[in-house]
Amino acid sequence: MTQDDLIQLAYLVAAFCFILGLKWLSSPRSARRGNQVAALGMAIAIGATVADERVVDYTWIIIAALVGGSIGAVIARRVQMTAMPQLVALLNGLGGGAAALIAVSEYHAHGALGETSLGGVAAVSVMFSAIVGSVSFAGSLVAFGKLQELLPGRPITWPAQKAVNAILAIAIVALAVWASLAISDPVLWILVALALVLGTAAVLPIGGADMPVVIAFLNACTGLAAAATGFALGNVLLIIAGVLVGASGTLLTQLMSKAMNRSLTSVLFGAFGGGAPGGGGAARGESLPVLEIAPADLAAQLVYARRVVIVPGYGLAVAQAQHPVRELVDLLGERGVEVTFAIHPVAGRMPGHMNVLLAEADVPYDKLLEMEEANPDFPQTDIVLVIGANDVVNPAARDDPSSPLFGMPILEVDRAEHVVVFKRSMASGFAGVENMLFHDPKTRMLFGDARKSLAQLVQDVQDV
Ligand code: TAP
Repeated sequence: MTQDDLIQLAYLVAAFCFILGLKWLSSPRSARRGNQVAALGMAIAIGATVADERVVDYTWIIIAALVGGSIGAVIARRVQMTAMPQLVALLNGLGGGAAALIAVSEYHAHGALGETSLGGVAAVSVMFSAIVGSVSFAGSLVAFGKLQELLPGRPITWPAQKAVNAILAIAIVALAVWASLAISDPVLWILVALALVLGTAAVLPIGGADMPVVIAFLNACTGLAAAATGFALGNVLLIIAGVLVGASGTLLTQLMSKAMNRSLTSVLFGAFGGGAPGGGGAARGESLPVLEIAPADLAAQLVYARRVVIVPGYGLAVAQAQHPVRELVDLLGERGVEVTFAIHPVAGRMPGHMNVLLAEADVPYDKLLEMEEANPDFPQTDIVLVIGANDVVNPAARDDPSSPLFGMPILEVDRAEHVVVFKRSMASGFAGVENMLFHDPKTRMLFGDARKSLAQLVQDVQDV
């Protein structure tokens, strides 16, 4: 077996690890294992790639691996769960940037070999990864800036925006044809610069509320750019990994758009979602009365309930209230109350946000019900505790055709006997839409930070 055969074999094993990792990542029960096997696949891929005899000097590879690896390790340990979407945006952007840089260096190498033009496959792959990688890099950095609140979350618009972007796109394609027919480094650099401008201009008009969908979309783009780089380099594993990222990113984009009842075109071109993270705002419902409940009264009701469902939302993550919630579940369980969690697919700010949060507090997976499983049981539920969730329980999504949320599937908590909402104020959720559930006669509000309210409730349940 030649060294090249061994490398290809290692790539095959790595590809298998990636696919298995993705499969396992699809369930919280096996997600940890999925991450580990995918990391193993990546280690095999890197090992096989640097073992290639065409690598003549290891100095820069070692320096880059040490610097990059250390930064990655520190960030991964320090990042807060609520900051995960922007971290994903940043890492995704770096992936796109790397694909673009490899394309530039491959292009330069063709020129250095004395070629005057690129062949068909090389032209398409190099130009595709240079353009899409650069757009993805710049777009992801803007998405990061918006989520990190370094840039305003509202859509930033300017006159003739779509026309300017269209002209930019046409200019980029024209430059790609030119640079392929007559190799010239400066032309490629101009193309990269314009693609960076296009990536920035395309994401600035998108509101903070839509940013996670945009990130999933850019993630798919980065995957495709990496796959194109794989063609340019003749690296099979890069093609496979890029296509996996491209396909999973596309599916995720579709899933999130569907769960938020938004079409991808309206996300990308609609300048919607002015609601910066946190939402807020006055609405006609604000003048209507709301009924409050004290933790001690709720504690008394809970211990005599038969069936309780908890609906967690973004506020649970903000308050970091997963541990007191687990304590409450345990206490009620000891009293014979059946407690489950109903998880909406877009609760929180990223897919699986609530599952990860609750897993952190060791809430058993079999207590987590998905929306389709949970909805039929609400009519037989005594009390629903809505903790830091808002949009995902807004009945307007079901009943009010004029609402921007209309058509989004919701957790139908208003069909239960009693509803208690934990939040700090009457502010709206991420979509900036008022929620008439708070004014429903069967609803009681428990105002305050969810962590503090739950800590008090736990104490009161112990005292009953
Ligand atoms: P939201 O509708 O954003 O509502 C969160 C609520 O939590 C707010 O009303 C807020 O009210 C409350 N809150 C904030 N901090 C709190 C604290 N410390 N203690 C108690 N309450 C607190 O959340 P949701 O119901 O989870 O809905 C998610 C939204 O994000 C949807 O609109 C969804 O489309 C969007 N989104 C989700 C995703 C994914 S993939 N998950 C991606 C993009 C967008 P107060 O300020 O009054 O406390």
